[in-house]
Amino acid sequence: MEKLIQQYTDHAKNGFYSVHLSELSNKGNQAFTTSDIHNHNGVLLARKGVNIDQDVRQQLIKHKLLKPLDNHIGLEHQADTQTLIKEFRRLVDKYPDLQVVNDALNFGPEFEKLLQLERLHPLITQKLTVLEAQMYSEFEKSVFAAWLSTLIAREMGLTLDERRDTLVAALIHDIGLLHLDPDIICSNRKLSAEEWRTVRAHVVVGKIIADAVPGIYPAVSRAVIEHHEDCFGAGYPLALNEDQLGIPGKIINMTDSIHSIRVKSFRNSQRTLGDIKPYLQLNPTTNGYEVYRATMAIIKKSGLQPVRLKPDGCPQDYAKNLGKQIDILREAKQALDDIHENLLELRDRIDRHDVKQLSAIAAITHRIRSTLHESGLLSNEIAEWLHEERELSDVDEQVMGEFNEIELLIKELTWQIRNTVRMFHSYKDSNTSHDTMMLEHIETSIQSIQAIFDRLS
Ligand SMILES: [Fe+2]
Repeated sequence: MEKLIQQYTDHAKNGFYSVHLSELSNKGNQAFTTSDIHNHNGVLLARKGVNIDQDVRQQLIKHKLLKPLDNHIGLEHQADTQTLIKEFRRLVDKYPDLQVVNDALNFGPEFEKLLQLERLHPLITQKLTVLEAQMYSEFEKSVFAAWLSTLIAREMGLTLDERRDTLVAALIHDIGLLHLDPDIICSNRKLSAEEWRTVRAHVVVGKIIADAVPGIYPAVSRAVIEHHEDCFGAGYPLALNEDQLGIPGKIINMTDSIHSIRVKSFRNSQRTLGDIKPYLQLNPTTNGYEVYRATMAIIKKSGLQPVRLKPDGCPQDYAKNLGKQIDILREAKQALDDIHENLLELRDRIDRHDVKQLSAIAAITHRIRSTLHESGLLSNEIAEWLHEERELSDVDEQVMGEFNEIELLIKELTWQIRNTVRMFHSYKDSNTSHDTMMLEHIETSIQSIQAIFDRLS
């Protein structure tokens, strides 16, 4: 941890933050200096009272700063509680299923009250202002995370202090992104292993920034650095296990996953939070069973039901197509078994740094194999049921619901396997000193998984 903190301290002081600040004026919000800014040798870089324009930004970006840049910055307009409440109401308007959850659990007014009670430090509201202007989707995600994570925290019976820490951590969990190269962070292209390392650094940068906020509770910065860890030791930056993780970080990891499914995966469909259950059932222990139980309870209490999507073709073709996808998953599982065995063997033969990374990937392959097994998707019963001859009249609402659920399970498992493949490539690209023969063997299995999945599209 100490090494990581040292490595990213200068990023947290400025990194690319001045780039964002200089762009704020184009959006009608001028950033300016509130005190003289010096580099680490005491040389004056910018005087108090100047606007952060292109020239100042160039000057700042070239030097290591004595103190964090955000300490010297004022903004013409800064976000406050009302900004967050406004964004929350906009979010609920945009996704009416959130309103259903609020109504059923009587949470909307309580959440707004929590926001009002929490006096966010100006350093935090400064970061949220910049996040809203420069990375709006991340800002929206932070408000979603603040809402859902405090609801989960309430459902888990956490104390008021723990709920407050969860709220603040959820709001700021991704602010580290503002200090990293926007060409990488905001890119839609395929990233290299080195670039992925940059993206992953946002948790460390976020923790350093949070630690520097006067009066912030240690649980907040802990949650920030832990929000991409998971209970299997398959997360980053430290691949910690369940016992080593705090609750707020686990909750925020859960809300980020749900946000991604609700906002990205369901973007072009009518699906809602009521369709999230299959995902939850596949991942009951990723963020600890208590977080799963509370999240599931919320969805159940909301009364939201899965949306029954009618297939384009006839139900029988739909079922047969699902059957084919399961056959493909079955083949992928065999390749995954092979990779898992090789990873374990490889792990026993290499140095300590690599062991940590490989253990994380092996933890994921292990998790997916058990998830596949526990889902029952690969059972003969499901295969036979899907291949049954059916007339349209035989397919009632319940059967269609089960088809839909199977489809969601397949999608989630497919995503998990593809993600493992990405992790492995990232590991392979970032190392030169390892067992070439074994890696080639794994690469062959990965390629076979990719070839298998190509048939899915
Ligand atoms: Fe994140």
